[in-house]
Amino acid sequence: MSLPASDRTKQADGRTTMELGDVLPLTAEVRGKRLYIGGVDMVELAREQGTALWVFDEADLRNRMETYLHAFRSRYERSDVIYASKAFLNKAVLSLVREEGLCLDVSGGGELACARAAGFPMDRVFVHGNNKTPQELTEAISAGVGRIVVDSRIELARVSEIAGRLGVTQDIYLRITPGVEADTHEYVRTGCEDSKFGFTMLEDFAYTCIKDALEAPHVRLKGLHCHIGSQIFALHSFREAAEVMIEFMARIRDGYGYLIEELDLGGGLGIAYTADDKPSSIDEFAEVTTQAVKDCCARYDLPLPRLLVEPGRSLVANAGVTLYTVGILKTLPNIRKYVAVDGGMSDNIRTALYHANCEPVIANKADEPRTEIVTLCGKHCESGDAVVIDMPLQHPDLGDIVCVFATGAYNATMASNYNGQPRPGIVFVKDGQSRLVTRRETYDDLMARDLEG
Ligand SMILES: Cc1ncc(COP(=O)(O)O)c(C=O)c1O
Repeated sequence: MSLPASDRTKQADGRTTMELGDVLPLTAEVRGKRLYIGGVDMVELAREQGTALWVFDEADLRNRMETYLHAFRSRYERSDVIYASKAFLNKAVLSLVREEGLCLDVSGGGELACARAAGFPMDRVFVHGNNKTPQELTEAISAGVGRIVVDSRIELARVSEIAGRLGVTQDIYLRITPGVEADTHEYVRTGCEDSKFGFTMLEDFAYTCIKDALEAPHVRLKGLHCHIGSQIFALHSFREAAEVMIEFMARIRDGYGYLIEELDLGGGLGIAYTADDKPSSIDEFAEVTTQAVKDCCARYDLPLPRLLVEPGRSLVANAGVTLYTVGILKTLPNIRKYVAVDGGMSDNIRTALYHANCEPVIANKADEPRTEIVTLCGKHCESGDAVVIDMPLQHPDLGDIVCVFATGAYNATMASNYNGQPRPGIVFVKDGQSRLVTRRETYDDLMARDLEG
């Protein structure tokens, strides 16, 4: 794994922090030379808590949750927003999700255990995963989760059997692969035909399995689910998915005489990682999906189902930033300038994984224009270990505090201890106050599970 060749033609954009637009968390501002988020000085916070550090703007998180709910409910009465906790999970964010009235998507026993520990209402929990173990299913069903999203025929039999053993009837969805090629990176595309997820519609497999679900003794088929991928900019993919799903619901009504009551269209709305990204807004997403569902239901004379969406990234990514300290500077003539920070692929795997990029600024020079092109490399033993590749930055000096934006989704949850790196702490900031909501790992944590030696 290595970095892509440096683009020598790239010019620094000269932007200052506040010119980075949609990338910034809601309350980002520059006071004097310094970057503030939630009214808190990021340079002071880095000094107090150490770096690397994940910081979340609580007002931004709440604002996006409210925007999502309002965008859907104002257009479509019977709708719900499910937060996909794989994007970012700790007890603090679960409290916000609960307070704001969203439902919760958990994938697997660990996320479910976290939701239970946080006291999240189990009837608002949706359980996902393409290979939930019998143990995880047992935990979910006995906890009384709202819906299990069944991903395969084998799992359908398993859920019915476990529910029977526990003496309950479990509400389920079937996850359908709608065959829609979402316009996004192939690693995060999930709704196309060749996918490990869900029931394929090829050779009428999904349709046949609906019958199995209707006949299974201890489950109640409440709805259908699809999720076509992540970081999607082109809204037509969501419209196409909705059309396929509703046509399928009409076929189920006509063929089996059964009305599907609920439709979950998954997550996937893209966000701005760089200042030039122009994603669709939450409102535009809601407009396209609710209109598609209404149009299609009218076409097939179907009553409107309860409609659900399942965003992760677009709820938390821009609310989160990562603070690092510059430790080493290295300029390779005619190749690139490396700015080494005290983290890397252990706290941000997205860059190494798919050369995703983010916008950096120096928090103690936040008012200055970004005049250099740099690669923010990490401290790990991989050539491909970088946080930002060939992006503009203010002139860096040793000890500067770098803030990398839009790192709130799939960073903390995909973090590792590679090279024995303790994972960063997580701080929520709001109204001039900061609170450490997840402490930094210690060296002792790294060895806590070792039983010998
Ligand atoms: C089933 C399911 N729902 C929702 C999501 C959330 O997607 P996003 O974070 O792109 O909104 C994912 C992400 O992988 C997913 O697999």
